[in-house]
Amino acid sequence: MLKKIEKHQFDYFTSSNITDFNDAEQKLIATTIKNVKNAYAPYSNFNVSSGILLNDNSILTGNNVENASYPVGICAERNVLSHCISNHPEKTLLVVAVYAEKKIEKLKTPITPCGICRQALIEAENRQNKPIKLIMIGHDNQFLIVEKCAHLLPFAFDGSDL
Ligand code: THU
Repeated sequence: MLKKIEKHQFDYFTSSNITDFNDAEQKLIATTIKNVKNAYAPYSNFNVSSGILLNDNSILTGNNVENASYPVGICAERNVLSHCISNHPEKTLLVVAVYAEKKIEKLKTPITPCGICRQALIEAENRQNKPIKLIMIGHDNQFLIVEKCAHLLPFAFDGSDL
């Protein structure tokens, strides 16, 4: 017999209006979309771009990079995250954006980060002890937004468990 029902809830936001974002976020969104062309995804033909807005207003980008040995491939989010933490360890990550396109069609529905990337994003939040806003971008100004990445992975495993 189960003892007690508990609920886990979080807010998420949708938007179809770019002006719902501040100037720095608008630039992040435009840069992330533009950079999807740099994806190396010859096997899935699923091109992904991820951008990070840092606290000095600079923007970093990364893409998925696949490999003939499939598991070697890495997602766009973890590519840009690793670059960010390696090269700008002292900066704070304010916002992460993600955008994807199939080779033959644009995707109206925003993609959400895969499970491994959610884990990596939460580690980055915990590391800086500040939430990172996540903007998931679909074609034609369709946006899905969460105020912190941890929302997307309830009961996440983290360093405090070790
Ligand atoms: N991919 C990403 O880059 N990010 C995600 O959040 C989901 C999946 C990539 C991995 C692979 O190169 C391709 O998309 C298809 O799964």
